[in-house]
Amino acid sequence: MDNGISLLSLNIPPCFHFCLYFTNSKIYVFVFYLVVVLRVPSFTGSMVHVPLTCGEAFQNEPVFWKKNGQELNPPLQGNQVQVLVEEMKGGNYTCHLSPSGGYLNHTLILIQLNPDNRTGFRIRKKSHIHCSAPNYTGSFHCSWKRTALRSDASVVLVKAERFTEDISCELDGDASGVRCQDAHCPYKEEQHRISVTVYIRSHARLEAYTKSFYLREIVRPAKLPNLHISDGKVFSWDYPDTWEKPCTFFGLQFEVKLVHNSYLLLMSSLNITTDTTKYEVGVKTKKYVFCVRAQDKFTRGPWSHWSQCTVNKHNVAC
Ligand SMILES: *[C@@H]1O[C@H](CO)[C@@H](O)[C@H](O)[C@H]1NC(C)=O
Ligand SMILES: *[C@@H]1O[C@H](CO)[C@@H](O)[C@H](O)[C@H]1NC(C)=O
Ligand SMILES: *[C@@H]1O[C@H](CO)[C@@H](O)[C@H](O)[C@H]1NC(C)=O
Ligand SMILES: *[C@@H]1O[C@H](CO)[C@@H](O)[C@H](O)[C@H]1NC(C)=O
Ligand SMILES: *[C@@H]1O[C@H](CO)[C@@H](O)[C@H](O)[C@H]1NC(C)=O
Repeated sequence: MDNGISLLSLNIPPCFHFCLYFTNSKIYVFVFYLVVVLRVPSFTGSMVHVPLTCGEAFQNEPVFWKKNGQELNPPLQGNQVQVLVEEMKGGNYTCHLSPSGGYLNHTLILIQLNPDNRTGFRIRKKSHIHCSAPNYTGSFHCSWKRTALRSDASVVLVKAERFTEDISCELDGDASGVRCQDAHCPYKEEQHRISVTVYIRSHARLEAYTKSFYLREIVRPAKLPNLHISDGKVFSWDYPDTWEKPCTFFGLQFEVKLVHNSYLLLMSSLNITTDTTKYEVGVKTKKYVFCVRAQDKFTRGPWSHWSQCTVNKHNVAC
């Protein structure tokens, strides 16, 4: 602690590229920076000295430092230096062979407000990270959105864990989500929540957003496949391929709706719940939309998306 700023790590890490230091937590790394994170209370006028090292390889070189490409005043020289970081003024510290010379290495100093002061990002609340899984095998996907205004904001890290155990994740190609695999025995009673934290950088600011959940709260059956009609009145469908087997053990329940005008979905005339994968319609009307969706019968988790068939006299489109 130094004037109210806590420096999460003072040690230059053994890992190159990206190291984010938090006490008592492990991390997953997929973007390559070397980062030192300061946690500061909001706008206190606080400052802290942060040690920087250009690298062992440059021990005997005359090393010059720059911040965001600009020479420092007074000039900062030497392989191991201390920089004074004030309030929100983090940045990209690069070391060079001479004031005008070749780039050698860099350290990014990011500032995270403590408590986090979230301004300007679309992911403002927990609810803006959306997580979902089609079954209980432990594989789940989380996604988020960034606003176009903050196109400079980039996801630097996603950390997922359950209690003290890490969960491995892989970032989607466009950095708008991650796919994670919980190695936990999938059918064991869950005692602890999974938490997913997304770290976003904008200039020298770091913001963290966390979503916590039990797997059972995010298991949503996939859209029901193979919906069709037989004998002009019996609709049937299948369990999703990605749903747990055997179906007798991992039962789903289905909600059926008949809508007389597809544009007035909310004015449906029926709300029926069934355990069987078929439903016989007994209506006289010749024009309607048949809709069905599924939910885990036991956990009463999230509903699947609707599957539907549009009936127009003898034409049926599913
Ligand atoms: C959060 O940031 C805004 C704009 O940067 C600032 O006006 C506000 O005072 C900050 N809130 C806190 C609690 O620091
Ligand atoms: C660059 O800096 C990092 C952190 O100080 C260090 O681990 C790494 O070895 C340096 N690179 C070289 C080539 O020395
Ligand atoms: C920091 O500066 C180095 C050297 O110019 C550059 O390669 C790196 O991409 C910069 N990092 C960021 C986050 O701007
Ligand atoms: C469970 O869902 C994952 C995707 O999250 C999928 O890869 C896997 O095949 C599914 N399991 C079964 C039995 O279909
Ligand atoms: C339909 O009924 C089910 C079970 O009774 C209920 O959970 C669901 O919220 C109802 N849906 C609507 C749209 O009323």
